[in-house]
Amino acid sequence: MFDDVGKNYDLTNTVLSFGQDRRWRRRTRERLNLRPGERVLDLAAGTAVSTVELAKSGAWCVACDFSPGMLAAGAHRPVPKVVGDGMRLPFADNTFDAVTISYGLRNIHDFRAGLREMARVTRPGGRLTVNEFSTPVVPVFGTVYKEYLMRLLPAVARVVSSNPEAYEYLADSIRAWPDQEALAREINANGWQGCGWQNLTLGIVAMHSAIKPG
Ligand SMILES: C[S@@+](CC[C@H](N)C(=O)[O-])C[C@H]1O[C@@H](n2cnc3c(N)ncnc32)[C@H](O)[C@@H]1O
Repeated sequence: MFDDVGKNYDLTNTVLSFGQDRRWRRRTRERLNLRPGERVLDLAAGTAVSTVELAKSGAWCVACDFSPGMLAAGAHRPVPKVVGDGMRLPFADNTFDAVTISYGLRNIHDFRAGLREMARVTRPGGRLTVNEFSTPVVPVFGTVYKEYLMRLLPAVARVVSSNPEAYEYLADSIRAWPDQEALAREINANGWQGCGWQNLTLGIVAMHSAIKPG
């Protein structure tokens, strides 16, 4: 599925998020507080659009994704790219100072195994940031958003995306995903500690952060 959405992926994202995707990427870079020379894994990096934003910090950032089609769609972006499965990463233990995943954890077949694998490749004391669609925190807005997910999003995707069916999957998978508190518990139970979160755009997206126990 992801191999087929690479073409037009970045444009579709920007249209469907009403341009919020850029701000969400910038907030992730600021939250990770990266320093020049640090080693950073951007897992499920897709077209590496998230990775180039992280690299603005001066840290060494590598994009990893299991879809060669998505990575190929970002071939023009000047960051190292590695094909790899989030449940079995091609990196040694304790390699990275920070690991991040944006809109990818929900897609990993066994996301708990993905969290543990991210912890394995992070050094003790290293940081994790997970960006994922979440549960809106304002009830009325939550109802409007649910309608958007079920009706408007698949319709818009039919116009702009190279694989509109993928966006029906997107809407279904967002509705089935744990809310902010439940995801924090999962992160703490799978290799990380001290998980907290910040809501972005009224909780459409939640940015969870945790530390690998040292
Ligand atoms: C919605 S895209 C997010 C891309 C990028 N992080 C962004 O912010 O635009 C989700 C990505 O997760 C990747 N993915 C899904 N399961 C994966 C797995 N098990 N291992 C690595 N990548 C995976 C897909 O190939 C896809 O590129």
